[in-house]
Amino acid sequence: MKTIRKILVLVIAFASLMSILALGGCSKDSGKKKIGVSMPTQSLQRWNQDGAYLKEKLEKAGYEVELQYANNDVTQQVSQIENMITSKCEVLIIAAVDGDSLVNVLADAKEEGIPVIAYDRLIMKTDAVSYYATFDNYMVGTIQGEFIESALDLKNAAGPFNIEVFAGSPDDNNARFFYQGAYDVLSPYIDAGKLVVVSGQKDFETCAIPAWEAETAQNRMDDLLTAHYATGTQLDVVLSPNDSIAIGIANALDNSDYTPGEDWPIITGQDCDIPNMKNIIAGKQSMSIFKDTRTLADQTVAMVNAIVDKKEVPVNDTETYDNVIKVVPTFLCEPVFGDINNYQELLIDSGYYTEDQLK
Ligand code: BGC
Repeated sequence: MKTIRKILVLVIAFASLMSILALGGCSKDSGKKKIGVSMPTQSLQRWNQDGAYLKEKLEKAGYEVELQYANNDVTQQVSQIENMITSKCEVLIIAAVDGDSLVNVLADAKEEGIPVIAYDRLIMKTDAVSYYATFDNYMVGTIQGEFIESALDLKNAAGPFNIEVFAGSPDDNNARFFYQGAYDVLSPYIDAGKLVVVSGQKDFETCAIPAWEAETAQNRMDDLLTAHYATGTQLDVVLSPNDSIAIGIANALDNSDYTPGEDWPIITGQDCDIPNMKNIIAGKQSMSIFKDTRTLADQTVAMVNAIVDKKEVPVNDTETYDNVIKVVPTFLCEPVFGDINNYQELLIDSGYYTEDQLK
C-alpha cells in the first residue's frame, strides 16, 4: 500500500512539474497565431479606432496581434510590413498609406505564403492581395451628392447655386470612388447651370487634396475665396469628400465673413470624427458619413478566421474592385448618413461616442 502511495505521489509530482514546464513554454511563445495589422497614421481619429477595434477583436478570437502605425510614410509602412513577414505573421491586414507602393513588399509576403487583406483602401498593381474589406465607397459619394441635391431642392429650385468641389488624396483608390459617386449625382445640375462651379475647378486631379490634409484644404479654400468670392459672390455649397478636408474648409470660412446659421455654405463630410460632429452641432458642417469601424473590424476578423480555418471567405462583391492586376474579392459594408437630426441615436445611443465626447 505504502509503495503504491509513493508511486502515486511521484506520478502526481512529475505531472505537476510537466504542466509547470508546459505553462512556462506557453508564456514565452503563446503558441497563438500572429496577425499583422498595418495602419496608415494615428493623426486621424478613424485609424486609431480601426486599429484598436481590430486588435481587440482579433485578440478575443484567440490571435496574437502586431499592430503598427506608419505615420503616413510609405517607407515606414514598407519596413513595418517587412518585419511582420519576418516575424511569421499568418495573415496581414493593411490599410495602405499609398495604394500603389506596396508591390515589392507584398511580393515577399506572397513568397512566404502570407495572405493579405486590404483594409478600407484597395492595394493596387499586385496579385498578392487576397481580399478587400471596406465600406461601399461609391455609395459614400452618392449619399453626399444626394444630400446636396435635397438640401438645395435641386429637382425643383431654379438656382443657380454656387458650389466648389474638393476631392480626396490621389494616391488613395477610394478617393476616386467618393468623387465619382457624388459627381454622378451633381453633374446633371452642373451641366444644366443650376449648380455653378464658380472657380471652374471641377475635375478630380485639380480638386484633389494630397494625404487628405486639413491644412492643404484650408489653403485651397482660402485661395478660392480670395480669387472668386471676395466681391460679394455667395458660396452656397462645398462638396468635401471627408471630415479632415471639411475641417480645413470650415477653418477657411471661419477666417472669412461667413457666419454659421446665416450664410454658411452647406459642407459635406465623411467619418463622423469628433471635431466634425462638434462642427455639425455648431452649424459649421452639414452632414457626415458614419462608417462604423466596429462593423468593418468584425468583417475583417471573419475573413481572417476563414483564411486560417481554410474555409470559404465571406465576400459580397467580386466585380467592382479591380487593382489593375486582378479583381479583388471584396466585402462591402454599408455607409450610413449622419447629421444634426440623427447623431444622438446613431453615435451616442449606439455606444460609439459618449455625450461628453461631443461637448
Ligand atoms: C477612408 C476615409 C478617410 C480617408 C482619410 C479613406 O481611405 O476611406 O474614411 O477619411 O481615407 O484618412
